[in-house]
Amino acid sequence: MFQFRKNITLFLLALLVFTGCNTKDKLAEPSDEFRVEVPTNLGPFPESERGNFLTKEGVELGEKLFFDPLLSKDNNISCATCHKPELAFSDGLKGSIGASGKTLERHTPTIMNLAWHDGFFWDGGANTLESQAFGPITHEDEMGQDLGQLMEELKADSLYPQLFENAFEEGGINSKNLSWALSQFQRSLITGNSPYDKYIRGEGNLSSLEKQGLQIYQENCSSCHVGDQFSDFGYHNNGLDEKFDYTSEEEPKLGRYRITFDSLDLGAYKTPTLRNIAVTAPYMHDGRFATLEEVLNHYNHGIKDSPSLAPKLKDGIQLTADEKTALIAFLKSLTDEEFLSRYEGK
Ligand code: HEC
Ligand code: HEC
Repeated sequence: MFQFRKNITLFLLALLVFTGCNTKDKLAEPSDEFRVEVPTNLGPFPESERGNFLTKEGVELGEKLFFDPLLSKDNNISCATCHKPELAFSDGLKGSIGASGKTLERHTPTIMNLAWHDGFFWDGGANTLESQAFGPITHEDEMGQDLGQLMEELKADSLYPQLFENAFEEGGINSKNLSWALSQFQRSLITGNSPYDKYIRGEGNLSSLEKQGLQIYQENCSSCHVGDQFSDFGYHNNGLDEKFDYTSEEEPKLGRYRITFDSLDLGAYKTPTLRNIAVTAPYMHDGRFATLEEVLNHYNHGIKDSPSLAPKLKDGIQLTADEKTALIAFLKSLTDEEFLSRYEGK
């Protein structure tokens, strides 16, 4: 899974997690390092602020949990039901359907390079990946699971008790270790080997059309879709709606306002990355656009004015048909096939 690839330069980070030393059965202690492959153009790997450093056992346990429908109420929905590896951990649906059979109002976002994010969910409603995991597990419309019940099921399983024991120093089956393992696995999902990345690192080339598109992106899009993460991790209203009528301050369509109660955050959402964007349709927080052409038409002539609209988008982003073609060619060069096929068959 995490083999060394000769064609790219890697930072191999040795993350020290195990300080206490005893001679007990080696498997019973977390291993003292985990190698995270970080392509150089992504910069250093941000370590967990909570001390939840990656270990081989922790990442492997998190992977098993992520793909396991045991986590849901009726044991029929796993995290991967909605976050499919081959779609950069999105699901191709406008709104996913979870445990209650209700269609979710927000589109399933991707899970990749999340170690670089400092807010989770479209509105940044969770500050850490560790706290984020409880949302989907317990939400009645997602996995609908009772945490106490889940702990009992995990304890009764033939493998999990030993795997938890191996992964954590205080290795019991509890909700903290569950969320820590899921976070470790998700932090290990790093993508940075698209044709664009190889071009930037001098390991490959782009076509002249793709290079033209790169320049158009740099001039028009890179103020929000910043740098090699293609996001400023900020929250903006990119002009999808004009009005934000609501009956409750909890409504998902309010965007970041729901968290900050600042009227300038009405309709503002976390800038999504553009990595693997060719496989993560439909687009936007509610999946309203089916294609990249529709997205560019929105920026071109669909921007709706409102007091919270990002100032940069007041006049839209006008592009000729040729410029749109080049920009889309560039966006397609952000697909990392190696990343998308890493969990094939899971
Ligand atoms: C029924 C579909 C569904 C299931 C099952 C599901 N998710 Fe999600 N996930 C979503 C949706 C929809 C959102 C966006 C919610 C929002 O922003 O309000 C989301 C958001 C996220 C995010 C935030 C990503 C970001 O960029 O901020 C993470 C991380 C995540 N889910 C992880 C998980 C994990 C871990 C599990 C399993 C424990 C899981 N999800 C199960 C649908 C699902
Ligand atoms: C003012 C900041 C800003 C600028 C400039 C901007 N975007 Fe966005 N973009 C956003 C935000 C915020 C979203 C998410 C909005 C939502 O979901 O409601 C978004 C969403 C998208 C999406 C959908 C991603 C997904 O996963 O659903 C694409 C594709 C996109 N932008 C491409 C572009 C392109 C191409 C340009 C330049 C022509 C551009 N953006 C310019 C802020 C911006």
